[in-house]
Amino acid sequence: MKPQKEISNLSELIRKYNRQYYSENGSSITDSDYDALMNRLLLLEKQYPEFKTQDSPSARVGSVPVSGFAAVVHNPPMLSLSNVFSNEGFLQFHNRIQNELKVNSVEYSVEPKLDGVSLSLVYRNSVLVRAGTRGDGVNGEDVTENARTIRSIPLRLNSGQPLDTEVRGEVFFKTSSFLRMNSERKDNGKPVFANPRNAASGSLRQLDSSVTAERPLSFIAYASGGSSSNIKTQAELLKQFHQWGFSVNSENRICTTAEQVTAVYNSLVEKRADLPMEIDGVVIKLNSFSHRELLGSVSRSPRWATAWKFHAEELSTVLERIEIQVGRTGRLTPVAVLEPVQVGGVTVSRATLHNQDEVLRKDVRAGDIVLVRRAGDVIPEVVKSIPPVDATRGAAFVMPDKCPVCRGPVVQPDNEVNLYCINPSCPARIRRSLQHWASRKALDIEGMGQKLCEQLVDSGMVHSIEDIYSLNYHELTSLENMGELKVSKLFAALERSRSVSLSRYLTGLGIPGIGEVASRDIAAEFTTVEALRNAAEEELMAVKGVGPVAAASVRRFFTSPVTSAVVQHLLDAGFNPVEKSIKRGTSLVGETVVFTGQLSLTRQEAGRIASAAGAKVTTAVTGSTTLLVAGENAGSKLKKARKLGVKILSEDEFMVLAGKADSQE
Ligand code: IVH
Repeated sequence: MKPQKEISNLSELIRKYNRQYYSENGSSITDSDYDALMNRLLLLEKQYPEFKTQDSPSARVGSVPVSGFAAVVHNPPMLSLSNVFSNEGFLQFHNRIQNELKVNSVEYSVEPKLDGVSLSLVYRNSVLVRAGTRGDGVNGEDVTENARTIRSIPLRLNSGQPLDTEVRGEVFFKTSSFLRMNSERKDNGKPVFANPRNAASGSLRQLDSSVTAERPLSFIAYASGGSSSNIKTQAELLKQFHQWGFSVNSENRICTTAEQVTAVYNSLVEKRADLPMEIDGVVIKLNSFSHRELLGSVSRSPRWATAWKFHAEELSTVLERIEIQVGRTGRLTPVAVLEPVQVGGVTVSRATLHNQDEVLRKDVRAGDIVLVRRAGDVIPEVVKSIPPVDATRGAAFVMPDKCPVCRGPVVQPDNEVNLYCINPSCPARIRRSLQHWASRKALDIEGMGQKLCEQLVDSGMVHSIEDIYSLNYHELTSLENMGELKVSKLFAALERSRSVSLSRYLTGLGIPGIGEVASRDIAAEFTTVEALRNAAEEELMAVKGVGPVAAASVRRFFTSPVTSAVVQHLLDAGFNPVEKSIKRGTSLVGETVVFTGQLSLTRQEAGRIASAAGAKVTTAVTGSTTLLVAGENAGSKLKKARKLGVKILSEDEFMVLAGKADSQE
């Protein structure tokens, strides 16, 4: 057979098995046969790259690493949902909707709220061309290569598809895939993921899509990014998604009364543990799109939908003992060591007790039966203790007066409930700093988890963060569980981490009070380490969201001897990150803007500025228009906007509102 023909036959065949596997009932081919077909396709495409198509199913196995993520702008923005926590809360939502629509019955689509990460997929002429993470709702990251590796994301839509189509949904791990992956990671000495949600987010945001390809992620579609005239309800939309080749949740239900919604909620609470994936509530959406249009959105969430959240899961287990953990800042935290228990699909064997006051208030002691709660991705905590009635209890717990790790002095600052180890060279503090530096939200150094950080510090190879950049290959292979392959991979990951952005670097430094968000804002303003370490407190305070305490903390970090030496050593090691991210405003999020009359900007420029600031841009004034930007000689649109009471702005006012909406490198 001619190679081109064979490539096309193989692609068609693999697509067919993908469809069977993901949107119909089961696959008619074994995994190894599937792999054989895929390998043949990969080989042919390598030999005859000219015959490889953009939507080839081989994209499922990933491609060479890319250097970073490009930005994507979501228009309309990817909104979040308001919450209710009880039947009363839901009924209030329901009554408001009926009152505002002036009707006495409405239809809802009631859907499990998947606990993963949302993703936008854009199809052009039916072919997947862009996948973007939600980010802040307006600005996300372009993860197209990674999305192409997720088997339940069609690379090409099946049928009946308009020119440009945006499908939104959730990327997540099925609980079984998650548990299997974690146990394999454990066997291979890799760090395990805390929960399926973090794992999904981390896996989707890999710079190397072949890493994503190895993670068994799933995708379920639940919303569209634009409106299409022939689809009038959520039920029709979901049906359309299914026809296009997406998975939709088989638990979705259409309800015609509030009682039915409550019944679906209750039945999902019951079924929760048996569902194939983690859910943290139900999403209740108006079924009719014209009703949605009438209600519109406020700030960041639509008024036609809400999330009815589940209560946090609680389970009882035995508290074996209380340990003291020393954190990166030196803080001593009492931790409950528990008989392992499954809470919300995750095994919990440790839970925080916060501080001495909390331990005393809850009166928890070794041997007690305790209630453990895990809510979302919050660290599990001990809610209360149920002391045994007859048996004699262990002694009440007291905090130590020395650091349990370095035996150094412990102090309690004024007005604080916490105790701190004040020795900056305390191995516990260094281990934790290192772990934080390597973590996903900071330098994201794959392979450098808790275990390795401990080994590095305990073996004396690392005394401070910068030491990891001058590690010795042979010394490393002498560590337990560190074969040559792992060491090589670690070196590659360390090398990659050198091209990190300033914001991640800042997060990694772990300056007290400066988390991911503040790091991003500060980095966007100062852009280089040099500028940042010379920044005065007043300059830092000029950054949005940075108050006097945070500013002083940054200043202290860059001036005090131990921490400023770390920065200097990193610079000496050639570590000099800069910020290249594009700054965009979000001041117009949720607004629907129309331009009219003569403006100094072209319509295209004006539109770009508005969408970069989060607005949706349309051409006609309708009931859903929220802003009209009117130039000279505005006519009928201005008139109509006045009649509808739409807010009217001059071009100058609009520019002020959009802030520095224009992108700047
Ligand atoms: S609809 C405007 N449907 O919940 C409506 N969202 O707070 C947008 N989510 O970030 C979302 N399951 O990640 C919708 N069946 C579902 C969902 C769902 C989970 C998540 C989604 C979004 C968050 C909204």
